[in-house]
This record gives sequence, structure tokens and C-alpha cells, in this order.
Amino acid sequence: MPNTLCDSHGRNINYLRLAVTDRCNLRCTYCMPKGCFAPRNELLNYDELLRVVRIFAGLGIGKIRLTGGEPFVRKGFVDFLAEIHSVTGIKEVGITTNGTLCFDQIQRLKASGVTGINFSLDTLSPTRYQKITGSDLFHEAFAAIMEAIIQGIRVKINVVVLDNDNSDELLHLARLAENYPVEVRFIEPMHFNGSGKFTPPHWNAMRLKGFFLENLSGCVEILKKIRPHGSTAQLFKVKNYSGIVGIIAGHSRSFCASCNKVRLTPQGMLKNCLYDNGVLDMKGLLRSGADDREIIIAIQNAVAAKSADGFIVEKDRRDFVPRSMATIGG
Ligand code: 5AD
Ligand code: SF4
Repeated sequence: MPNTLCDSHGRNINYLRLAVTDRCNLRCTYCMPKGCFAPRNELLNYDELLRVVRIFAGLGIGKIRLTGGEPFVRKGFVDFLAEIHSVTGIKEVGITTNGTLCFDQIQRLKASGVTGINFSLDTLSPTRYQKITGSDLFHEAFAAIMEAIIQGIRVKINVVVLDNDNSDELLHLARLAENYPVEVRFIEPMHFNGSGKFTPPHWNAMRLKGFFLENLSGCVEILKKIRPHGSTAQLFKVKNYSGIVGIIAGHSRSFCASCNKVRLTPQGMLKNCLYDNGVLDMKGLLRSGADDREIIIAIQNAVAAKSADGFIVEKDRRDFVPRSMATIGG
């Protein structure tokens, strides 16, 4: 049996984003302002998650990103992470977090070999942070980011660009990459906000690119061919910056051709694309007593059918339910 996962468009899938929970201690307006969680027994337990990781590792997945919801709200998350590191074939383990609960864990994460942490931070103003996330934990989040930098962990900062709430802060936020060796990524909001309402952003990737090229002196785009494989961000070097600036066209979807990832939702649904409704009920398979071989074949078939891009997926999807990012696994 080949130990690789390929789709019918010749893309090699070697990256799994694994959501360990749909719960979160924040209520970001663009993600899940109300919060509505699945019953606990509908979430995969750690044994099931570990089995999933072993199976995917056997299929050539070398990189895992643990997401949520907020992964640190799940009890036992850091121990689970250590176990993932020990799975043969897993070379990179990253985390996406809002940073508000993990300051005390950063040293341990470093010791366990975490390769990178992506933090969400949409503003440098504590007052605005409260407005966007519904919480006053700005300082906790910022302190965790600083600690991760001090510990030498590769840090990315995710900024969802909101037309009315933080688009006047773009330069300030970009300057985090001047002072620190971080990648600051400006993300187009997508309709995964749990509200059913969505207005395409005025500050889309094209406008962001024009803005940075014009306003960050010495800003140049890093050529596609020297960017990391599968990178969803368009990246920019800026003169005298220690870090880099990125733009993620989540809504415009200009990166699908080099997509190398699949996702598993907290409820164990495999997704080939953020925009699909799920392509394989892994929880059902795991709980029905299927053996590894059956699960492997099901995964290979599901991934083989991955669509060429997110627009096709959205068009083909009849029962469109714009869910919250937290229930998908961001
Ligand atoms: N659109 C774009 N990005 C989002 N995120 C969460 N919800 C949305 C959305 N609706 C981002 C957050 C987080 C990452 C996991 O996903 O910034 O960092
Ligand atoms: Fe929580 Fe992240 Fe969603 Fe904000 S974006 S509510 S921090 S899961």
C-alpha cells in the first residue's frame, strides 16, 4: 500500500489540521459570537484522535496543526500534544491558539518540540480586543506571544481584517514584524462566522497587497517558487523588518492549486476543503469498529476526490450552512 495521499489533481496531501475541540473561551465576532457547542461525547476522545494521527502518519502526513475552537480549553491538551510528537512520521507539530490560556505552557511546548504557534491577534488596543473577542484578555494573549518569541518558537500572528474594526491598524500590526521575527498574516474574513450573514470584505487580498506595497517602504513580494510548499499566504519582505508580512486570501481563494492539506473537525468529520460539508465521517468509522485498513481505504478514496478549488466546492454544495470556524477547526 503506498504511504502517500494524493488527489486526482496531482496534489500530494501531507498536512493535517486537527481540531481538538469546538469550545473556546472567546467569542470573536467573525467566528462564533454566540457560541454553540456539540455534546462532549460527539467530540473525538484523545485515544481516537491519536489513532487518527497514527493512521494519517502512515499515509505520509508529516505535519499536524492542532486547532480548535481553542485547543488549550481542552483538558489534557498538552499531554496529548506530547504523544503526537512521538508518533513515527510526524515531523512538525504546530498549534493555532488565541494565546489567552497558554502563557504558562510555552516553555513546556518548546521542550516538547512544538515547531510553530499561530496566534490570533486582531488589534493592538485592549479596548478593541474586548469588542472583537468579547473578552478583556488582550494582555494575556500578547504576553504569550512575547514568551513564545523569547523561547525561540516560530511565531505567526493571524489578523482577520475587519473593514470597520481594525482596518485602520494595518500598519501598526504589520510593524510587529519590524520589531520581532514573526510572520504577521492579514486574513480576509470568510463566511464561517456562525451567523448566516456575510458581506465580502472591502479590504480584500488585492487591496491589502496594494496598500502594503505602497505604504511599507521597501516592501517586495516573495516569489511563489521560494515560498514554503502549500503556503496559503502571499508573503512580503520589508526593508529592515526582522519578520515578514503575509496576506491570506481566504475568501478570494487564490492558493487552492497548491493545497496540501485536509482537516478533521472536532466531531471527527474529514474535510478536503474549508468550504465542503465534510467528505468522510471518521468518527462513525472509528466507533463502528472499522479496522485500520478499512479506514485507510476510506481516507484514500475521500482525498482522491478533493476538488480543484474552493469555488467549485462551494458551487457544488447544495445544503450550504455557513458554520462557525470553531466548529470546523480554523
Ligand atoms: N474568517 C477568516 N478567518 C477566521 N478565523 C476564524 N474565523 C474566521 C473567519 N470567519 C481565523 C482566526 C484564527 C484562525 C484559526 O482562523 O484568526 O487565527
Ligand atoms: Fe475562539 Fe479563535 Fe473563534 Fe476567536 S477565532 S472565537 S479565539 S476559535
